Amino acid sequence: MTHSSLPERIRRDFPILSRTVHGKPLVYLDNAASAQKPLAVIEAQREYLSNYHANIHRGAHHLAQLATEAYESTRQKIANHIGAYTTDEVIFTAGSTDAINLVAQSWGRTNIAEGDTILVTQMEHHANIVPWQMLCEEKRARLIPIAVHPDGTLDLDDLDQALRQHEPKLVGVVHASNTLGTINPVEAVCRAAKAAGAITVVDGSQALPHLAINMQTIGCDFYVATGHKAYGPTGVGFLWGRKALLNAMPPWRGGGEMIHSVSFEGTTYNEIPHKFEAGTPHISGGIAFGVALDWMNGIGLESIHHHETELVHHAQSALETIPNLKVIGTANQKVGVVSMVVDGHHPYDLGTLLDGQGIAVRTGHHCTEPLMAHMGLSSGTLRMSFAAYTTREEIDRAVIALERAINMLN
Ligand SMILES: Cc1ncc(COP(=O)(O)O)c(C=O)c1O
Repeated sequence: MTHSSLPERIRRDFPILSRTVHGKPLVYLDNAASAQKPLAVIEAQREYLSNYHANIHRGAHHLAQLATEAYESTRQKIANHIGAYTTDEVIFTAGSTDAINLVAQSWGRTNIAEGDTILVTQMEHHANIVPWQMLCEEKRARLIPIAVHPDGTLDLDDLDQALRQHEPKLVGVVHASNTLGTINPVEAVCRAAKAAGAITVVDGSQALPHLAINMQTIGCDFYVATGHKAYGPTGVGFLWGRKALLNAMPPWRGGGEMIHSVSFEGTTYNEIPHKFEAGTPHISGGIAFGVALDWMNGIGLESIHHHETELVHHAQSALETIPNLKVIGTANQKVGVVSMVVDGHHPYDLGTLLDGQGIAVRTGHHCTEPLMAHMGLSSGTLRMSFAAYTTREEIDRAVIALERAINMLN
């Protein structure tokens, strides 16, 4: 199979792709915000809700056992998918944001003290900035950004210097940028951070749908990702952490499921992973997340990445022919994200005109305001982002529609 035949083979799995928007066939180029769902994922949620819905872990009855097995099988699938040694290193969360807050509130509150430093890159999503900022405020610690080059690659010299100068307790880095598409050399970042004595948190939200990822190769201490960008449901994701760290961390949220025993004299806590999973989770979402991973693995991450790399090259060379358009983020290693600005035109105006032609893109700061400020892009960018089902023809349609939008505004 050539990579360009990939969408042909899989598009029929996605019912939404055959709908129209404003009377035009939908061209969905907002996959970095959330990917569409294949039938298998939709069906897995329907099947659970219609045939074996019950709360998990607690019931002795048949349906509770079926639901528990299906939900827990996703934990196993995540562990296999990311090369975790054991399933108890995988904590279910409501998404990446929730997972990073867990690390900040549990590991952070016990390990960060006044005067300590945390480093994060300038290209982080707000989800990997604000939880650390809140922690730093509480602890009177400092959050320091690592610089990004104008082409959207990470400044590794600045990282080295910051590691030497600030001796941080923790380094946070996004595996792939949702705004620039840049794939960061997370292995090198984690190696350098570890050598400097820092704990590492990698935000894999945009890597999970596009790249094969392996905890042992990356060498991080914590890794987070979210289901809905990887063809799964919203409201479910995971935190992977090193077992020794997770065991030493206090629980974050209290309630049912995370306890071993409760009395008014005192409570003892459950083992990992349940220690961090208070309350009833998003069961249908968890089950369907596992099906989304199966679906991606059925295609193969290598095929998906090759296909999306071809799309990025195709899009970037087509866009470069548009006068006064600048692609933001031109790293060699990118996931399927192409951000751009057009001189004299607000991204939102262009995005609205594209919507009128059935083309879904995202405009604005993409939850990376500090990156936009660093790059001097006060109005943000217009972002086209791709998935396994995106075709070259869709990109061609989007480029023609963008030219038309620019001409309308000129
Ligand atoms: C790089 C990155 N990190 C974190 C997040 C947050 O993901 P969620 O909203 O699913 O928690 C996103 C989502 O846009 C993202 O792109």
